[in-house]
This record gives sequence, structure tokens and C-alpha cells, in this order.
Amino acid sequence: MKKNILVIPGDGIGPEVTTWGKAVLEQIAKGFGHDFSYDEALMGHAAIEATGNPLPDETLEKAKKSDAILFGAVGHAKYDNDPSLKVRPEQGLLKIRKELGLYANLRPILLFDELLNASSIKPAILKGTDILFFRELTGDVYFGEKTRSEDKNTASDLMIYHRYEVERIARKAFEAAMQRRKRLCSVDKANVLESSRLWRETVQQVAKEYPEVQTDHMFIDNAAMQLIKDPKQFDVVLTANLFGDILTDEASQIAGSMGMLASASVGESTGFFEPIHGSAHDITGKNLANPLASILSVSLMLEIGFGLKDEAKIIIDAVDQVLKEGFRTNDIADDTTNPYKVLGTKEMGQLVLKFITQKT
Ligand code: NAD
Ligand code: IPM
Ligand code: MN
Repeated sequence: MKKNILVIPGDGIGPEVTTWGKAVLEQIAKGFGHDFSYDEALMGHAAIEATGNPLPDETLEKAKKSDAILFGAVGHAKYDNDPSLKVRPEQGLLKIRKELGLYANLRPILLFDELLNASSIKPAILKGTDILFFRELTGDVYFGEKTRSEDKNTASDLMIYHRYEVERIARKAFEAAMQRRKRLCSVDKANVLESSRLWRETVQQVAKEYPEVQTDHMFIDNAAMQLIKDPKQFDVVLTANLFGDILTDEASQIAGSMGMLASASVGESTGFFEPIHGSAHDITGKNLANPLASILSVSLMLEIGFGLKDEAKIIIDAVDQVLKEGFRTNDIADDTTNPYKVLGTKEMGQLVLKFITQKT
């Protein structure tokens, strides 16, 4: 298969982990005889430094021409510490999502049994959890009008949804539920927010097209609690942009770490594959970042982006093997981990690559 892949490493640990995602792609291409070509582009702080723009036109053009995008993360402490800065790394990510029409962000909570002890939740509560989040990605308070009063003392962000935006992601989530355990939980705040009432009304309407799916509605505050109390009750979770952002960081603790969660953003054109984590200033440049979220994002690219199921599975199997043999990065090491088996980013990447090579 011939594919043209754009790699956007971004900032902080982005380049450190994306190196291994790309290396895995190269190995898969070699092992299965695919013809993957690569290009690279700037986004975020790195792009602001080079061009003054967090999403240069050149990056957007390359993105539109590519068959898939592998992204790392954006963000820099400079902006986090100075809210007055007008040009910000995250604007690049938001703009590319909007420009490419990436309205559905799939965030699977893939729980490897070997990591049951890495979580702060009891293993008995966790075992068997398998959740697929559908986070709406191009609407909500993220993209509504922003205002700041002249005296600077009042600010607002408009939380807004249009019916078509809810309908299209709801359909995708129901389609996925049909392929899974046929349960869908839509999470909102319809007891307070008008935009959530539109959300709930629309999901109820779409649910009629999927009578086999057991549909539930839950308020976001309760959902945040239920996720920790009894994560196994969830199959597909459908939610809005901001709620999904927060709930999935919480859900990363089910999988053991932010460094384990991959995601696929899809919609109208080129798929965009990225870890859910950020640029992690606290561990940047220390060889401490877990590269598995980036590597698992490549697995999602192969499966969802290119329909290459066998290739995607080999990556999951290689990660499973690494964990079964007791190897961990710092973030997923627990009391029972042999200290000699705690690896850095590079060593973990190399080991996964070695196992993939053996399997192809
Ligand atoms: P973060 O996800 O970068 O980090 C949160 C915590 O998780 C940190 O302690 C970090 O060390 C840890 N962590 C994250 N990824 C890890 C990995 N692969 N391996 C091991 N540990 C990992 O979130 P934050 O600290 O709130 O934000 C830092 C910057 O990243 C901010 O500028 C923020 O805007 C940006 N951000 C970007 C994205 C993105 O590009 N998709 C996502 C979230 C945050
Ligand atoms: C994510 C991030 C982004 C978001 C930020 C960096 C804009 O937290 O990808 O989850 O909020 O969507
Ligand atoms: Mn986030």
C-alpha cells in the first residue's frame, strides 16, 4: 500500500515520542512491503519560533495533501506562565483540527492486564474495562466567540453547538457501538446548559436509528465519579469537546498513565493520530517520556486510517510482549517492577521495535 504520511513532532516530549511512532511505521512498512513516504512540518511553539505562526500555511498545505498525520504534542511553559500572550502554541492544534474537519476524536481506553497494578484504582475494579470515548472535537466552548471587556475585568467563551455537529458525531459513536457491546452512554450537563439540552435531544433522536444499542444519558459530574467507581459499566462514551478532554485525562488512570493513551481524530478528510498527552515540560529532554501512546497512535493510524488490521495488531502485540516481559517506563512502573527493567524513552522504543521486527 502506498501512503504519504506527515509527521508533526511539535514541542516538549512531542519529538521524543514521535521518533518512535515513526520508527514503528517504517518497520511495519518494511515488514509488510508497504510504500510509506514521510514528510515533516512545524506546529506549536516550534512553529512560532521559526515563523511567528503556530500553524504555518506550509504545514496546513502539507497536511491537506497527506494520507495521514502523526502528531506529537504542542505547548511550552512560557505561554502557560503568561496568559497575556496572544499567539499561543495550542492555537495551531485547534486550527488544524478545524481546517481538516476532524470533528470526531476517538480515545480508546486500552487496558493491558500487565498494568493493572500501575493504576491508582484497585485491579479488581479495573479488570475487563474496555471503553471507547467519542469526544466531539471542532465545536463547543473551544470554538465559540471569546470576549474580554475594555477594562479587562470580564471575559467570556461561548459554549455553542449546532444540531448537525451533534448528529454527525453521534452517528459515528452509534456505528462504533454496533460493532462493540452495543451500549452507548452520552455525557452532558443537560440539567443546566442549553447547549447540553440540544445535545441530549439530538442524541435521543439519533438513538432511534439504532434500536439495538442500549443508550443512556449521564451528567458529567456523575460520569466523572462513575468512571472511577465502576469503569466496566461503560462501552462507548459520547461527549462534547471540553467534557471529553477532561474525562479522558481522568480515564488515562484506568490504563495506568497518560503515556498509554492514543487517539484518532477523524471527520471530513485526512486522519490525525496523536497521543492524548501534552508536551509534558516536567519531563522534557530527560529520556523519561513513555513512547507507547505515540506507538499505539500509529496502530490506530494503520487500522482506522488505512484499514490495515494485521499490521495494527502486531503493534499491540509487541507492546503487550514488552509489558509481559516486565519492561516499564517510569510512569507505569509500580512496586513490583524490577528496577533493572525500568527503561527510558529510547530503550522502550528500541525494544518495541525489536519485537515488531521479530513478528514481521
Ligand atoms: P501533559 O499531558 O503534558 O502532562 C501531564 C502529566 O502527565 C505530567 O506530569 C507529565 O509528565 C505526564 N505525562 C504526559 N505524557 C507523558 C508520557 N508520554 N510519559 C510519561 N508521563 C507523561 O499536560 P500539562 O502538564 O497540563 O500540559 C503541558 C503542556 O502541554 C501545556 O502547554 C498544554 O497546553 C500542552 N498540552 C498539549 C496537548 C496536545 O498537544 N495534544 C495536550 C495536553 C496538553
Ligand atoms: C488535547 C489537549 C488540547 C485540547 C489542547 C492542547 C488544545 O488538551 O488534545 O487533549 O484541549 O483539546
Ligand atoms: Mn487534553
